Amino acid sequence: PLRGSKSCREKMQLVESIPAGLYESSPLSGWSIANSWLHLLNEANSSVHIAAFYFTLRDSDLQLDESSDSEGRKVFEKLKELESKGINLQIAVNAPQTSTQDTAELAATGAEVREVDLKAVTGGIIHTKLWVVDQKHFYLGSANMDWRSLSEVKEVGLLVQNCSCLAQDVHRIFGVYWSVGGLNNGSLPPYWPARLTALSSAENPLHLKFNGVPAQVYLSSAPPQISARGRSDDLSTILSIISDAQKFIYISVMDYLPLSQFTQPIRFWPTIDSNLRAAACTRGVEVKLMVSCWKHSPAAMFTFLQSLLVLSRPPLKCNIEVKIFTVPSTAEQMKIPFARVNHAKYMVTDRVVYIGTSNWSENYFTNTAGVGLVVNQTDSVVEKGQQTLQRQAEDLFLRDWRSSYSSWLSVDDVDVCPLSPH
Ligand SMILES: *[C@@H]1O[C@H](CO)[C@@H](O)[C@H](O)[C@H]1NC(C)=O
Ligand SMILES: *[C@@H]1O[C@H](CO)[C@@H](O)[C@H](O)[C@H]1NC(C)=O
Ligand SMILES: *[C@@H]1O[C@H](CO)[C@@H](O)[C@H](O)[C@H]1NC(C)=O
Ligand SMILES: *[C@@H]1O[C@H](CO)[C@@H](O)[C@H](O)[C@H]1NC(C)=O
Ligand SMILES: *[C@@H]1O[C@H](CO)[C@@H](O)[C@H](O)[C@H]1NC(C)=O
Repeated sequence: PLRGSKSCREKMQLVESIPAGLYESSPLSGWSIANSWLHLLNEANSSVHIAAFYFTLRDSDLQLDESSDSEGRKVFEKLKELESKGINLQIAVNAPQTSTQDTAELAATGAEVREVDLKAVTGGIIHTKLWVVDQKHFYLGSANMDWRSLSEVKEVGLLVQNCSCLAQDVHRIFGVYWSVGGLNNGSLPPYWPARLTALSSAENPLHLKFNGVPAQVYLSSAPPQISARGRSDDLSTILSIISDAQKFIYISVMDYLPLSQFTQPIRFWPTIDSNLRAAACTRGVEVKLMVSCWKHSPAAMFTFLQSLLVLSRPPLKCNIEVKIFTVPSTAEQMKIPFARVNHAKYMVTDRVVYIGTSNWSENYFTNTAGVGLVVNQTDSVVEKGQQTLQRQAEDLFLRDWRSSYSSWLSVDDVDVCPLSPH
């Protein structure tokens, strides 16, 4: 595999979307996701590869006022200019699309669009959100290619620049979707070609320097059926991070359910839940879990979380805390469908940071396509003026955890998320 230390002079940063009206100041991380996408498009010289669940960068019904989708529109206009500048745009998007307007317009400019029928292969969807530019820069994270993800939904992602070795590896994951959506759309190739073999993994992480601090970095992917040779499995990665933690595990996920959700009948799926319980109760690790409350929150989630919280009572008094993050909305904002929610999906421990795209329930790891990225700077020397990504993520998490938008989950209350239907 490629060893990147030489070819990479990388810059890595957490990027966020902060819904309008939430927090007074701009993102803690400095850059918004909208700005990082626009920046990537300005940097692009030869190719842009995007894997997406869906595309709705413009608001066709103008939900709010005319400027509500302005960030999304800017991104869309830039995407439209690429082909005329000689930059090849390839898009792998989940099939079937509910709205084909954006991708059809982009295809008309010369972009190549593949609607990937993953359902036929794994029974799931493409839920991944990633960008690779010139096989040198990339973005991955929770934000969809949706105008709301840039201004009305809380999102966390990672922008990495000048890092060919890792960007090429992200491109290989894109290559898997591209291949599934290709000639025999909806079927797996007889074998995964060597050009899609993982360049980084839990066993063989890339040794890079992020913002000057040495880091071991690797990508993970779900589900295993579409992992090319050597690719680390997303679920195994999450479990290994939980068991590697020594002091704390902070998790920000939209949905957390020890269930398979999209199978009939649904079944119990204790894999992550048991490991978290063991971390807190067997090893004494501090666990903080932050989930989201909105209209579409599954009511069962809060019941399971209350069962987790019971462990914090005597006699064990395990160090587990759960909070619920609610994005406040004005009456106008309430009208925007599928918005005003914390959609971020990441985990930070005292040792590593993991940025993902999946909710934490079984189908996201066994059927649905998603990606994760692990940055491990444990034991690295941090010089004055430098900061690990782990520390940036910890600050980000604690800002939300301590904010007035987070409320404690009570063990007894049955109505902890008044917004969700019961
Ligand atoms: C931009 O792309 C052209 C053609 O693909 C290539 O010759 C040139 O070296 C590239 N420039 C940079 C800065 O990567
Ligand atoms: C792949 O298959 C899906 C579902 O059958 C279809 O909607 C889509 O258009 C196909 N994609 C391509 C690139 O042909
Ligand atoms: C990336 O590398 C180029 C060329 O070495 C440099 O000009 C540019 O400033 C770098 N970008 C970042 C964000 O570090
Ligand atoms: C992080 O790096 C340390 C030191 O190299 C290693 O012992 C540990 O297993 C790594 N953790 C993860 C989750 O990869
Ligand atoms: C999981 O995440 C997606 C978007 O990332 C969201 O729309 C969905 O409602 C979530 N929950 C479930 C139960 O799938």
